Amino acid sequence: MASYNFERALSSMARERLEVSEIGEMIRLVVKHGAISFTAGEPSADLVPALQLKEAFGDVFDDPSLLGYAGSVLGYPGLREWIRGWMRDGGLLPDWVEASDIMITCGSQEGISLAGEALIDPGSYVLVESPTYMEALLSFRKQGAVCIGVPTDERGIVVESLEAILKEKNIRFLYSIPNFQNPSGNTASAERRMEVLDVLRRYDVPMLEDDPYHYLSYDADTPPTYIKLSGGDARVVYLGSFSKIVAPGVRCGWMVAPASLMSRISSLRVNACLDLPSFPQRGLLNYLSRLDVKGHIESLNSVYRRRRDALVSALDSHMSGLGFRHNRPGGGFFIWGNLDGVSDMTAFAHYAVVNEKIGVIPGSVFFAPGAADNTSIRLSFAKIDEARAEEGCLRLARAVKNYRK
Ligand SMILES: Cc1ncc(COP(=O)(O)O)c(C=O)c1O
Repeated sequence: MASYNFERALSSMARERLEVSEIGEMIRLVVKHGAISFTAGEPSADLVPALQLKEAFGDVFDDPSLLGYAGSVLGYPGLREWIRGWMRDGGLLPDWVEASDIMITCGSQEGISLAGEALIDPGSYVLVESPTYMEALLSFRKQGAVCIGVPTDERGIVVESLEAILKEKNIRFLYSIPNFQNPSGNTASAERRMEVLDVLRRYDVPMLEDDPYHYLSYDADTPPTYIKLSGGDARVVYLGSFSKIVAPGVRCGWMVAPASLMSRISSLRVNACLDLPSFPQRGLLNYLSRLDVKGHIESLNSVYRRRRDALVSALDSHMSGLGFRHNRPGGGFFIWGNLDGVSDMTAFAHYAVVNEKIGVIPGSVFFAPGAADNTSIRLSFAKIDEARAEEGCLRLARAVKNYRK
C-alpha cells in the first residue's frame, strides 16, 4: 500500500513561508566532509557547566508541586523574581517592571514567535535590521509579515533610513538585536539607540529588543538597553536568554513586556501549550541561586575573548592579503566579512566546505527577501580554539585562491 504523502496536505504557511535553511545545509555539509566549522551559533559544549546543572536539576524532585500544572502561565515565580533582580541590579530595567511583567519562554526564540503572533497580521510590515537573525525572519514571515530590511552600519541602525521607511509605511514593530548582533557582530552605540528611540516615538512604533548575547561582552560594558532607555514610555518588549550563558538545551529565556501586551501573550501561550515544563525552570533557579553568576560569565568571557582574538588575528594573517575585510566584534560569537571580487558567497561557501573542508555561513540568508546581499560571510569563533582558528584560516585562504582560478 502506498504511504500517504503529506506534501499535498500541507498548509500554505508550511508550503510557501518556511524554506529549507541554507544554515542547515551548511551544517550538513560540514558534518559530511568532516570540515572545521566556523558555522556554530551556539555555545561551546566544553563551557556548559554540566556537573553543576546535574546537581541543581537533581534537586527539583524535592518539590512535588512541580508535577502539577504550574500556578502561573508566566512561568516559575521564583525564576521570574530572580531575573527581575538580576536585570535591575545590572541597571537594565525601567522602574515599571515587576515580576508579573516577565514571562519565562522556551528560549528567546519562543519570545520572538509569541510577539510575532501577538503583533502581526497577514500583510503587516515588520522592520528588521539588514542583516538580521534568520529564524526571526522566518518566524515573522510565518505569521504573514512582509519583512523590510533597514540598513545598519557598525554603530547600529541607520537613523535616516529608518525614518524614511517609517514615513512611507505603516510598520507594526521594529525588531532589533542591539548587542553583538547575529550575524554582523555589531553593537548599537548608546547615541544611536537614543536616536532610534526618538524616531520610533515620533512615528509611534514599538520595538522588539532581542538580546541573547548581552552578557558575552569582551571589551567594555554594553550600552544601556532600549527597554531601559524607553523608560515609562514602555514601547520596548525585551527578550533575554540563558542559552548563551548557561546552556541552550535548558531552553530557558524570558520576555519583559507591559501588561497591555503580556495579557494577550499569556493567552497565546495557553493556547499553544498551556504552560512550559516547571522542572527546567526550577532546576535553573537552583543553579543560578548557588552560583557566582558574574564570576561564571567572566570565566566564559575570558575563553571567548581569546577565541575572538585568535580568529581575528588568523584572518588578518591569512585572509587580509586576499582582499578579505572583516570586523572585530566586542562580544558575542560572530565576525562578519566581505571578500573582494566574490559576489556569490553561497557558491563560495559550498566550494570551500567541499574542497577545503572549511565551513562558513553565506550572508545572503540573513536578509529580508528582496534585500539579499550575497557578498558577505558570517564566521563564528564560539567553538574554535587558537589552533583551529589558524588551520581554518589557512584552509579558507586556499579556498579563496583556488576558487578565483
Ligand atoms: C539573535 C538571536 N535571537 C534568538 C536566538 C534564539 O536563542 P534561544 O531560543 O536559544 O534563546 C538566537 C540563537 O542563536 C539568536 O542568535
